[in-house]
Amino acid sequence: MTPGSSVANLTALWAARDLRGVKTVVASSASHLSVRKAARILGLPYVEVGVDRGHRLDPAALPHDLSDACLVLTAGTTSVGAVDPLECCGRAAWTHIDAAWAGPLALSDQYRSVLSGVDQADSVAVSAHKGLFQPKESALVMFRDIEAAHGAISFGGAYLAAPNIGVQGSHGAAATLLLATLLAWGREGVAARIERCMDNARRLQAFIAAHPDLECFPDGGTGVTIFRPAPDRTDAFRADLPQSLASSATIGGDAWLRCVSANPNADMERIIAAIDKACRRTST
Ligand SMILES: Cc1ncc(COP(=O)(O)O)c(C=O)c1O
Repeated sequence: MTPGSSVANLTALWAARDLRGVKTVVASSASHLSVRKAARILGLPYVEVGVDRGHRLDPAALPHDLSDACLVLTAGTTSVGAVDPLECCGRAAWTHIDAAWAGPLALSDQYRSVLSGVDQADSVAVSAHKGLFQPKESALVMFRDIEAAHGAISFGGAYLAAPNIGVQGSHGAAATLLLATLLAWGREGVAARIERCMDNARRLQAFIAAHPDLECFPDGGTGVTIFRPAPDRTDAFRADLPQSLASSATIGGDAWLRCVSANPNADMERIIAAIDKACRRTST
């Protein structure tokens, strides 16, 4: 476990560098800034490749030779929740999947297919403090070859009963809260809540798609809804929405609004009514 997905990504790229000798990090322009940060810390050049209209990495834009590269694919991009083509796994010396947002969908029979191909990765990062309902500083990094990875990122010392694994030295019992959640709700209970979040997003997207004054960005399939009034009056519209109902997102230089579906108990009637009301106010 790591205290967030930035550290999970750093840990994975560290293992990639030291186990496979990767010399560059390749990721899409929609990848999270922590990937660039990790490349910088590790002294690896960062190569950015383009995305398609839906913000997925464009495989045609990948460098031809990835034999000494760590390819980072994102499952649930930060702005729009898009999932990169995971079938690109295996094309590089090491493939890491930053599944900070979409990773927990693996627990749902209904939505697992969004992550199809994830099992081919060398490493996967998942934030528990996003889709697993944990307080902040809770994430996981998983490795295909755990023994080799631990060997690469562990340091022992005479004063330690067991070597430190990963970036952190002393730390608290990081898994306790996640364990308590899993014991209390079980895998089915967690999956049911994830599915409620996804159902909420689908409801919101259906409402926006049917609304004559709203436009929706293509759905990334992971519970992130990006929308705006059409024609664009996003700033005025946002000011009319209840605070924290939506965050702002700048996509291709344009202002959009973003609702991340991470609360299974969200009152969708109220949310939809508030958006509808702001729409009527802004258009008058
Ligand atoms: C795709 C993705 N990766 C990594 C991170 C970084 O996670 P953290 O803030 O837990 O370090 C984020 C945060 O939003 C993210 O969206």
